Amino acid sequence: MKITVIGSGYVGLVSGVCFAKLGHEVVCVDKDEKKIVALKSGQVPIFEPGLPELLSSVKISFTKNLKDALSGSGAVFIAVGTPQDEDGSADLSYVLAAAKEIAELSDSYKLIVTKSTVPAGTGAKIKTLVSATNPQLDFAVASNPEFLREGVAINDFMNPDRIVVGVEDEKSQKIFEEIYASFPREKLVTTDIITAELIKYASNSFLATKISFINEMADLCESVGGNIKQLSKAVGLDSRIGEKFLNPGPGFGGSCFPKDILAILNVAKENNVELSLINSVITSNQKRKQKMVDKIRQIPAQKIALFGLAFKGNTDDIRYSPAITIAKELAKSGLEIFAHDFAAIENSRRELSEFKNISFFEDLYEAANDADLIVIATEWEEYKKIDLSKIKTKKIIDLRNLFDAEEIRKNGFEYFCIGGK
Ligand code: UGA
Repeated sequence: MKITVIGSGYVGLVSGVCFAKLGHEVVCVDKDEKKIVALKSGQVPIFEPGLPELLSSVKISFTKNLKDALSGSGAVFIAVGTPQDEDGSADLSYVLAAAKEIAELSDSYKLIVTKSTVPAGTGAKIKTLVSATNPQLDFAVASNPEFLREGVAINDFMNPDRIVVGVEDEKSQKIFEEIYASFPREKLVTTDIITAELIKYASNSFLATKISFINEMADLCESVGGNIKQLSKAVGLDSRIGEKFLNPGPGFGGSCFPKDILAILNVAKENNVELSLINSVITSNQKRKQKMVDKIRQIPAQKIALFGLAFKGNTDDIRYSPAITIAKELAKSGLEIFAHDFAAIENSRRELSEFKNISFFEDLYEAANDADLIVIATEWEEYKKIDLSKIKTKKIIDLRNLFDAEEIRKNGFEYFCIGGK
């Protein structure tokens, strides 16, 4: 099937390339000329392991011309940004502008699908807008939220737990069955549009809640003398709870959870529904970062090697990164920071440019060289492989619990972790 994907950002590009891998004819459209030129020459403008290789192995085209891209295509996926408005709600202007253009430029049936994370009710808004813009157009609206995580996006797309499709008629469902024909049929969860839209927010809110929960349990463990690693493992072994997303840390960040929980709160507020639990997750996560700063400050040190700047491992993304908040707070209190990351240095340099007491290192051993204390703030797997014999400073505070406490202490380190022991 010919598929058009509007927006070649994170979700759009990964989805487009993966659709092509599934054997569909894919055209990706973006207004950014530079991005299109780069993509045409095989350059991937985002950091995502495996994506450049996958891109070079599939047949896919990129264009700025939406009219050409729509010609002959059965399904159009809108994957443009939904940034956060000042009040926390999702800004739908790019989504609605894309829908309007689809209406103006289409002359045959289109299934118009939102892949971007959009608030409940967006499908209905798109329907009204498209009908008003082009009353003659034969079309249907659908929602197909994406659940991929940065850093493991291709694997998440290709091996989904479920594929959620919100449809309003049987024809739309048949189109999705064709698009996702390579996956086992039972993976496809079909709902109405508004429920599909809500599923995305509910999933992200639940995961954010799970993380905040385990972070609070870590605090409790620490105070009463428990061990969060053991607690987390045993709690997670209950199949009703599940072991994933039970790793305590400095709080969740990224471009999704912080934004999506605010957006769901906004939807709730508009509909006079109280989501007190989600409200408290926001508070808990905000406090978390300051708690981490306080924890670091309790350890006497003037020069700090900060390991990790990205909001999580395997990405160069620093949006709402707890590591960046920690860097800023420590720098504000006059400490000298030697920052290291495997991919996020360039982005961090821009974000932290006002702090003259933060310097950046490509080599983690160099970052640690003059430090009194190492702070591990991002869960890059590579940090686990550090050659400890090359580290001079003997004090580490590990906000991601990457190391085995007993083992590292045996190596002569004064080791502080999250959640006791
Ligand atoms: C998240 C969701 O996991 C995806 O399913 C969803 O598609 C995506 O948002 C989105 O809405 O686009 P992502 O933001 O890439 O994916 O990152 P996650 O891997 O979910 O991590 C989010 C934050 O939680 C990171 O700061 C991470 O370090 C933190 N985290 C995660 C923990 O502190 N502990 C955990 O156990 C897991």
